[in-house]
Amino acid sequence: MAMNANLSVIGCGYLGATHAACMSSLGFTVVGVDTDPEKVAMLSRGELPFYEPGLDTLLAQEIKSGRLTFTTDFSAVAESDVHFVCVGTPQSKDGLAADLTYVKSAVAAIAPYLKDGSLVVGKSTVPVGTAQSLRKQLAESAPQADLAWNPEFLREGFAVEDTLTPNRLVVGVANDRAEEILKDVYAPIIALGTPWIRADLPTAELVKVAANSFLATKISFINAMAEVCEAAGGDVTVLANAIGYDPRIGSRFLQAGIGFGGGCLPKDIRAFMARAEELGAKQALEFLREIDAINLRARQRVIDVVRSDLSENLTPYKLAVLGATFKPDSDDVRDSPALDIAAQLHAAGAHVVVHDPKGIEPARKRFPNLNFAETVTECVKGADLILHLTEWSEYRALDPSELGHLVKNKIIIDGRNALDRELWRRAGWKFHALGRTD
Ligand code: UDX
Repeated sequence: MAMNANLSVIGCGYLGATHAACMSSLGFTVVGVDTDPEKVAMLSRGELPFYEPGLDTLLAQEIKSGRLTFTTDFSAVAESDVHFVCVGTPQSKDGLAADLTYVKSAVAAIAPYLKDGSLVVGKSTVPVGTAQSLRKQLAESAPQADLAWNPEFLREGFAVEDTLTPNRLVVGVANDRAEEILKDVYAPIIALGTPWIRADLPTAELVKVAANSFLATKISFINAMAEVCEAAGGDVTVLANAIGYDPRIGSRFLQAGIGFGGGCLPKDIRAFMARAEELGAKQALEFLREIDAINLRARQRVIDVVRSDLSENLTPYKLAVLGATFKPDSDDVRDSPALDIAAQLHAAGAHVVVHDPKGIEPARKRFPNLNFAETVTECVKGADLILHLTEWSEYRALDPSELGHLVKNKIIIDGRNALDRELWRRAGWKFHALGRTD
């Protein structure tokens, strides 16, 4: 099969658009299918509907090459040998579980066009058991095709790198043939020495949620230590640095602050708990409830610091919020701790002004009542307090002396433990950070 294989990608959001452009860059002919005509029109012009470093140029280049096309017409997949399902699995409106509507309808929509011997490969994050039941369904509606599961581990901000040079490839398959097809497709990545892990379908699904649960646990662990440090007069940044030298612990993902957000970690741990309960293994994942609670508590702790710095009643104050996205180098505001804190302060009556290098438009869509500033200067002008909530590099480059002339009070809360405390203090600022004693 190798380079002659035609691929299709169903669902062209973050995951799908990245996967489609990356597979095209490996030499495959790729068609991306999405039900949103606006998204398809943009992608076809080589324009990304979201911000992701490096993906914009790759997309434009692949469209130009002629290998990559996008359409709303599902019949376009009829030419493809392998179909990657990359649609979203958001948290359902009425509970913690994942909403599988899009995955099910994507598989149903391509079923009539699947050619003999083709392979449907799920990449979306789904509750364990989904792949097996979809495979059964497919055996009835399109017995000429097979289904495998191949979770992705891409991080926003590093999506291209994580797709083309992942730290492992995991494939859930029911037979050798499906594994061989995927080995052919991923041959250029395997050639780089990337570890290849063959699993059964349920294990492949579990690998993804287990990895995200571990990462969420690591962040909430250090945020719990931050709470203890605050109570005991310690410094969580020094603590994290010290424990991180033990290679069994490792120093990455130990950044204390306002916690995790985004389109994956929060919803994945909740969906995992919901699924474990269905499976009769509720107790095994009870700890994730605590992980979620610690994470949400960090947001509250920041608001408490604001109140203790200013007053219980926040109505007379202007608060400048630096950062709206859930992490830097992204324009994603889904479940963003920064934006949640800004909205809560706004709801408490404060005059909140939010700045973000890339996320203002998506943030405005979500919270049209919040005030947004195009520049940091405009954001902090006359502010009674600054909250640094997303660690964009441009915020680290700010000059505290210059900013001191713009604000009303020189008070800053570093919600990400990313600013240079001594620098700010030397410039006369009152500087608070989560988990560090003043
Ligand atoms: C995550 C996983 O990392 C990725 O492997 C998976 O495929 C999708 O979900 P992403 O959502 O892009 O990726 O974000 P990630 O980099 O994991 O950060 C998640 C959140 O945790 C962010 O809000 C970030 O600010 C926060 N975080 C991260 C911390 O608070 N402290 C840390 O030390 C690291």
